[in-house]
Amino acid sequence: MAINMKGKSLVSINDLSLEEINQIFELSASLKQKRLTGEKHPLLEGKKLGMIFAKPSTRTRVSFEVGIYELGGIGLYFGPNDLQLGRSENIHDTAKVLSRYLDGIMIRTFAHQDVVDLAHYAEIPVINGLTDLLHPCQVLTDLFTIKEKKGKLRGLKLAYLGDGNNMAHSLLHGCSKVGMDITIASPSNYKPDEQIIKNALENAAYMGSKIEIIEYPVEAVKDADVIYTDVWASMGQEAEAEERRKYFVKYQVNPELTAHAKDDYLFMHCLPAHRGDEVVDEVADSPNSVIFDEAENRLHVQKAIMALVM
Ligand code: CP
Ligand code: NVA
Repeated sequence: MAINMKGKSLVSINDLSLEEINQIFELSASLKQKRLTGEKHPLLEGKKLGMIFAKPSTRTRVSFEVGIYELGGIGLYFGPNDLQLGRSENIHDTAKVLSRYLDGIMIRTFAHQDVVDLAHYAEIPVINGLTDLLHPCQVLTDLFTIKEKKGKLRGLKLAYLGDGNNMAHSLLHGCSKVGMDITIASPSNYKPDEQIIKNALENAAYMGSKIEIIEYPVEAVKDADVIYTDVWASMGQEAEAEERRKYFVKYQVNPELTAHAKDDYLFMHCLPAHRGDEVVDEVADSPNSVIFDEAENRLHVQKAIMALVM
């Protein structure tokens, strides 16, 4: 039976049930098929999505904007200097005002609490398009992509190498929700957030899957079905890039490392990649790599999310 998600905000994958996640995947697959065959699917005819971007974006910006158009609605882009929010109008007032004009808001920003507050005060659904803490749309897409490629999620092992950042956090939430094992290998001073690990351990206990937070890359990728990495310095951390590199060099995903994974492992990266740092071309462009399928699937999965909540 369909679960009614209308009006629901997507701030964190941890707020979704497994049934809701599966519903998103089912609709994503059907919308992907319709787009392929050219069948129209105006599920959000005339609806308006506001898209607030305090940080740059290629994939999130273009996939949400194209997505809302393909669903029959329109998208309004707001860059860092476009709203009074950027000149310190508060989140409460912004949420109340935008709720009078729009049918949904997608936001990419720095402080996660700002998205929590926006979702709390808005009378329309708010979709998190990345914060310093989480990137739920990306990870829902990644899980959908793994399911497409491997035919299942439960029981697979994902190894994440590198910074304990927003991607690591949403992967911890996402993998543990769907019953995948996840091992995070990061330097001891760049481990994921304790509260997120706690959330993931609770989910994993329920699903009977495993969570490991370790330091050694080779141990992490051993028998992995999926190897995932992300940049060593995220948006807003550019000034730390050189300092961080010292800690992260041994986490580079290269053929020497991937040799320890299963032969049919998938290489994944949310992109943008810093080729030559966290991943080398031989891996990113290898037959195991699904990075551009992931990027494409952002469109299908976010269309499903918008259609369900708006
Ligand atoms: N993966 C991702 O969110 O990419 P953008 O920063 O280009 O949106
Ligand atoms: N961790 C990266 C992800 C980009 C999609 C960042 O926040 O910059």
